[in-house]
Amino acid sequence: MPLLINIGMLASCRPEGLQGDIHPIRNAALAWQGARIVWLGPESELPESFRGEPRVDAKGRLVIPGLIDAHTHLAFGGWRAHDFVGRIQGETYLEIAGRGGGIHHTVDMTRRLSEEELFLRARGFLQQMVDLGVSTVECKSGYGLVPEEEMKLLRVYRRLQEEQPARVVPTLLAHMVPEEYRGRRQDYVDLWCTDLIPAVAEAGLAEFCDIFVEETAFTVAEARAILEAARANGLGVKVHADQFGDRSGAALAAEFGAVSAEHLEFAREEGIRALAAAGTVAVSLPLASLYLRQPPLQARRFIECGVPVAVATDFNPGSAPSWHLPLAMTLACLLQQMTPGEVLKATTIQAARAVGRQAEIGSLEPGKLADFAVIDAPDVDHWLYHFRPNSCIGTYINGTQATS
Ligand code: NIG
Ligand code: FE
Repeated sequence: MPLLINIGMLASCRPEGLQGDIHPIRNAALAWQGARIVWLGPESELPESFRGEPRVDAKGRLVIPGLIDAHTHLAFGGWRAHDFVGRIQGETYLEIAGRGGGIHHTVDMTRRLSEEELFLRARGFLQQMVDLGVSTVECKSGYGLVPEEEMKLLRVYRRLQEEQPARVVPTLLAHMVPEEYRGRRQDYVDLWCTDLIPAVAEAGLAEFCDIFVEETAFTVAEARAILEAARANGLGVKVHADQFGDRSGAALAAEFGAVSAEHLEFAREEGIRALAAAGTVAVSLPLASLYLRQPPLQARRFIECGVPVAVATDFNPGSAPSWHLPLAMTLACLLQQMTPGEVLKATTIQAARAVGRQAEIGSLEPGKLADFAVIDAPDVDHWLYHFRPNSCIGTYINGTQATS
């Protein structure tokens, strides 16, 4: 049974209490057996029977639950530096999408890659995320659009689950109506409801279904049809909601009892209250707000209303071309006025709720999986204040060191 000793601060991030209650233990030790945690507490209280076990010295550093990136678009082809420059020069994200650029460009580049090529690229991204302290990543499809291409992306995620250490949570994302269905939107929605969703559910290729409710993507009525099919086929529900305007996406997520509503930059009071009543997690994406030079999610309003807030990267080639979750965390402090403690809970137990895995991961407690990271900082405040390219010394997933 391995032991981690001499932990300066262990942030256990148990679910109870407020968003900012990270339940820290000073001068702590952590013991695990196989994949699961068996004991944690002040080192002075370490049970006598554990004292002879092999031990790793944390040298007074911070130990946190493995970080959970609850919103990424991990598998895609190409990049979009031209959109980045276009936006700097004044074009908006929606204008780029409206003239067939943006997501459509990435769809084109993604379809050109084989399953093997997409797998190798995504595996490379994942390893770099793990090196930053990340142990679980939610991965959305959405750059294939036609059924066989969406299935290809989900098979890449299945293979990643089997062949690399990070835990992958796959989501089927209805992102846009493809060129092939121009002028035949209803046929495309019907195809999702009658063919794609049942096929994905039958093959066990996704746990969740997400939909982009936006002027350039899907209407609330179309989303309702797709989410009903998802629910009927046993998939959990997520919504890309209110990113560029209040389109009642938050209310829709609440109506479907979604595990999460994501983006929410333009969600208003009514939507926020509906999320609170439904117990839906709000996933904030400060990198996307920054890259699109948009106002960020009003985290203080969500927290005051009792909505659990998660923070994720939104890693994708357009609105958030970085997988750096600790950078997103520092940005959540600065742009969303969240305290470092609130942000740590937002990337651990609240993020675990956003991917439906709170019984197994997201906090350090006996019985839970031994996913944790050793961070070269004395405490959480110092870590998120002093941004460095990488402060992570080691990431353990299922009790095994996974850092490269
Ligand atoms: O979450 N909002 C929609 N989807 C992504 C952007 C995808 C892209 O631009 O390629 C997002 O920001
Ligand atoms: Fe997204």
